[in-house]
Amino acid sequence: LRRKISLCSFSLFISVVTALEKMIISKLGDNTKLSCIYSQGGKLHLDNLRVYWQVDDPQEKCSVVYALISGQDNESEQCIHFKNRTQLLWDRLENGDFSLILLNVSQSDARRYKCIVLQNTEYTKRVHHEEVVLSLAASYSQPILSGPIRNTNSSEEEVTFRCRSSNGYPKPNVYWINKTDNRHLNSSELKITLQTDGTYSVFSTLKIKATSNMQIECSIKNEILQENLSAN
Ligand SMILES: *[C@@H]1O[C@H](CO)[C@@H](O)[C@H](O)[C@H]1NC(C)=O
Ligand SMILES: *[C@@H]1O[C@H](CO)[C@@H](O)[C@H](O)[C@H]1NC(C)=O
Ligand SMILES: *[C@@H]1O[C@H](CO)[C@@H](O)[C@H](O)[C@H]1NC(C)=O
Ligand SMILES: *[C@@H]1O[C@H](CO)[C@@H](O)[C@H](O)[C@H]1NC(C)=O
Ligand SMILES: *[C@@H]1O[C@H](CO)[C@@H](O)[C@H](O)[C@H]1NC(C)=O
Ligand SMILES: *[C@@H]1O[C@H](CO)[C@@H](O)[C@H](O)[C@H]1NC(C)=O
Ligand SMILES: *[C@@H]1O[C@H](CO)[C@@H](O)[C@H](O)[C@H]1NC(C)=O
Repeated sequence: LRRKISLCSFSLFISVVTALEKMIISKLGDNTKLSCIYSQGGKLHLDNLRVYWQVDDPQEKCSVVYALISGQDNESEQCIHFKNRTQLLWDRLENGDFSLILLNVSQSDARRYKCIVLQNTEYTKRVHHEEVVLSLAASYSQPILSGPIRNTNSSEEEVTFRCRSSNGYPKPNVYWINKTDNRHLNSSELKITLQTDGTYSVFSTLKIKATSNMQIECSIKNEILQENLSAN
């Protein structure tokens, strides 16, 4: 209850800090660092501090990612989802570095987190607050372009190009480009499939009228990684 009260009285402080939230991009399966630094210049006394790493989502039933109470971790409050998956940098705690290492990240870890540092003196006071947004990403494989394949079935001289790529996250944007005039072309088919490892594979087909000189490019874009992979 005491914690709730201090949350309210510091709401002005929160709105200022929110603007400074950090974005972290991690690849699936990696260990990632959620940074939280309460810098006071000197060494901190951990015995009167409580540090909470929480999922920043009021809908979430279990929100405690990690709890450090008087310099010791309190596993009884930790949500099952994060059990055995968190580490602090123990040698840096006294310097106010409460960054959390989250092991083997998966899609379900892609959320907003907050780090709250509370000080118990006569009363409990929030002395630090930070937010971190974790995004998950994985690079797509170099796309493979095949074609042109003549469509014997069609009345017009139509050809098909196919493009595939896999093991990426999140879903990609797929572009077909006419390299002669650099215009985008519409695909006739786009299939994005979720694979068992949580990444996506993508398959796209382009059908166009056959011309003598066809220079076609397929481009797979991962918006989060700002990666654009092309094949032609
Ligand atoms: C952990 O937290 C629970 C609930 O707040 C508390 O009852 C328990 O004493 C704490 N354990 C330690 C080691 O601080
Ligand atoms: C965490 O690790 C301990 C010890 O290795 C193990 O007993 C426990 O089952 C693990 N918990 C989870 C949720 O993986
Ligand atoms: C990592 O997490 C995935 C589930 O997200 C699990 O299948 C895999 O066994 C974990 N790997 C390790 C090394 O714990
Ligand atoms: C070929 O033409 C037939 C009859 O018009 C049609 O049913 C079929 O779907 C066509 N096949 C392809 C690959 O376009
Ligand atoms: C590609 O661009 C060239 C030059 O504008 C044009 O002649 C050709 O028809 C275009 N191809 C397709 C498939 O749009
Ligand atoms: C491609 O699709 C968009 C939206 O569906 C449409 O506005 C545009 O005219 C199409 N372009 C071509 C070359 O078919
Ligand atoms: C990625 O490629 C597409 C198609 O060429 C292009 O429209 C887009 O601007 C490119 N984006 C970046 C970040 O290079």
